Amino acid sequence: MSERSLPFVIAIDGPVAAGKDTVADLVAEQLHTIHVNSGALYRMWTLLTMDMPVEDLAGHVPHLIGSHTFRLERRENRVLYFLDEQDVTARLHENAISVRVSSISRIPSIRTHVNGIIRQFAGTSSLIIDGRDATTIIFPDADLKVYLDTAFAIRVQRRLTQLQLKGNTITFDELAEQMAERDASDREKGIYSLTKTDDAMYLDATELSPREAASSIVAAFHEKVGEL
Ligand code: DC
Repeated sequence: MSERSLPFVIAIDGPVAAGKDTVADLVAEQLHTIHVNSGALYRMWTLLTMDMPVEDLAGHVPHLIGSHTFRLERRENRVLYFLDEQDVTARLHENAISVRVSSISRIPSIRTHVNGIIRQFAGTSSLIIDGRDATTIIFPDADLKVYLDTAFAIRVQRRLTQLQLKGNTITFDELAEQMAERDASDREKGIYSLTKTDDAMYLDATELSPREAASSIVAAFHEKVGEL
């Protein structure tokens, strides 16, 4: 199967640890295209502004945009993230960035900039995009919109396993409380709110493997836009 001549977009939103990243990778693989993680762009901004106090940042955003370059590049079936022409992809999940990225992602002018970069990139390549506002704000006209959900206890367990692998000793109950707060704040944020739009496919992946979830999305895409 080859890629369709017109670029297409499949947008996937969902709560923390619903499996969006893994499922989006698999959808991209099945459709021979690429997966862009919108969170990665907020991570690039975090890397760029590591030494600046968050509260002072908003005023510097226009200058920073004018003096730095952010670029996404497709390399075979992957996307690489370039900051000032340096490939920073491997650095984006460093702990120091993960700890700070949420506050950076709350700055409206940074959100506008990130969305612009992603939309511009979508003009050059079909893509699967995942995030919190991919279906609502970045691509309200995506060819297919998906709200990927997974039972809360499974999401907590997944995140717990990830944290334990990094040596964190948080308990299930403590993490459940944090994640419930985070879910509520994601749904109520003023800058975006995680929500299922009326025209999005709702996919509950609780009983599905990531590959099965990806296959349902691919089937829905073919049904909606036809075979590639
Ligand atoms: O998915 P992630 O962990 O890489 O996301 C990093 C941060 O960016 C996280 O705090 C959520 C935020 N984010 C956002 O506000 N909007 C998006 N579309 C994607 C991520």
